[in-house]
Parts: sequence; structure tokens; C-alpha cells
Amino acid sequence: MTIPAHIAIIMDGNGRWAKARGLPRVAGHRAGVEALRRTVRAVADMGIAWLTLYAFSSENWSRPKSEVSDLMGLLKIYIRRDLADLHRSGVRVRVIGDRDGLSPDIRALLAEAETLTAGNTSLNLVIAFNYGGRNEIARAARRLAQAAREGSINPDDICEETFGHFLDTVDMPDPDIVIRTSGEMRLSNFLPWQSAYSELIFMPCYWPDFGRADLDEALKIFASRERRFGGVTAHGVAS
Ligand code: FPP
Repeated sequence: MTIPAHIAIIMDGNGRWAKARGLPRVAGHRAGVEALRRTVRAVADMGIAWLTLYAFSSENWSRPKSEVSDLMGLLKIYIRRDLADLHRSGVRVRVIGDRDGLSPDIRALLAEAETLTAGNTSLNLVIAFNYGGRNEIARAARRLAQAAREGSINPDDICEETFGHFLDTVDMPDPDIVIRTSGEMRLSNFLPWQSAYSELIFMPCYWPDFGRADLDEALKIFASRERRFGGVTAHGVAS
């Protein structure tokens, strides 16, 4: 079976999972962290090199204050509790998104996770936090324009590859698969540049219920699809 190099996941449905059980939304997010832990282990066991998880979008600030603070708290707890284990397992942690909008304690924690694990080579765990694709592209354009103004880049030389160097995902492979749970069929501003040729897989289960079996199913779906990257197939059918 074709094993992808990079899986990206939109972890959706925590709130509905909680509601279906008569629980507060935060209980869904807590169960979501458990699913995240399971998924990191499963992906590492499968020998997949990159896993990117959409943990907090730049649009999530519009949620009630208490929920935003719950999500910030869960990120802190997750990193404090799991960082040593992740490091021991050889996981390299990397964070994408707009750091400027985050509180100093979260910024420090994210930097600590990245620095501690910088030399690890088993799984690259990428956490998209305060991430929005359009924001990422706008920040990249700003830095590119600054580089042009300073004369370190010639505008005539700007191409897709040079632009990619200014994105948060520099040096990362594009995702082969983007999975979204909970039945919603949208990308919601997740990796719009990088997912141009990704296989999109929408799964009905709510994120807290996601497990190895769902990951296996997504890999089967991926293996059954034919990727053409705009070219032609063995049967000569144009994409
Ligand atoms: C979507 O569920 C989930 C999120 C807002 C982000 C994912 C968050 C976690 C897995 C828990 C936090 C983990 C970290 C590391 C911060 P939703 O609330 O949109 O669900 P709904 O659409 O059913 O309401």
C-alpha cells in the first residue's frame, strides 16, 4: 500500500461530540486531546514522517472567551505533560501560525518544544496554532516585499518555489492527504497553498472518536486514489 509522507488533519466535531453526551464543550476538547495523543502514536507507528494538526485557527478567537481560554489551557497542558515523552520518542515538534497574536507564556512554551526537539528525526509533528492560510500567505507576502525593498531578492526572480520559502511551512513536504472529521466538507483556511494537490478525505466520525481504524481507512482511500498532479494517467485521461 502507498504510505503517504505527510498527513494533515482538521480535527473537527469536539463540540458536537460533547453535546451528544450532554457534556460541556470543554469535555469534547479534552477528549479531542486524547484522540490527538492516539493519532500521534498511530502515525509514528506507521512510519509516516509528517503529521500536521489544526489545533486553533485564527478564526477561533471569535468563540466565547471561556472556550478560547479552555483551548489555550489545553495546549499548555498538552505540551507540559507530553513534551518529555514526545522528545523521548524522537518526535520533532514544529508550530505554524501567527505567533504574534499569542500570549508570551504560550509563545515561550512553543519555542521550548521546538528547541528541545529540533534534532529529532522520527515523526515531525506540526501543530497549526493561531493558524489561518490567508494570514500565512499575507505574512509571507509582507516578508517577501520587505526582502525586495532591502534588495536581497529581485522581484523578477519570484516564483512558486521562492514564495514557498517565506511560508511557515518552509522545508515541509506538501500534505498528501488532508483529513477532516465530523462530516463537514471544507478546508476552512487550512493549508490552502500547500493542499493544492492533496487528496481530501472527509470522515463522518467526530474527532474525539477518531482512532487507528479511521486512520487505516483513510490510508486505504488514499491508496485507492490515483494522483495525477495535473498530468495524464496510465489510461491517457487528462486530469
Ligand atoms: C473543533 O471542534 C476542534 C477545534 C476547535 C480544534 C481542535 C482542538 C483539540 C483537538 C483540542 C485542543 C488541543 C490542543 C492541542 C489545543 P469544534 O469545537 O469546532 O466542534 P463542533 O464543530 O462540533 O462544535
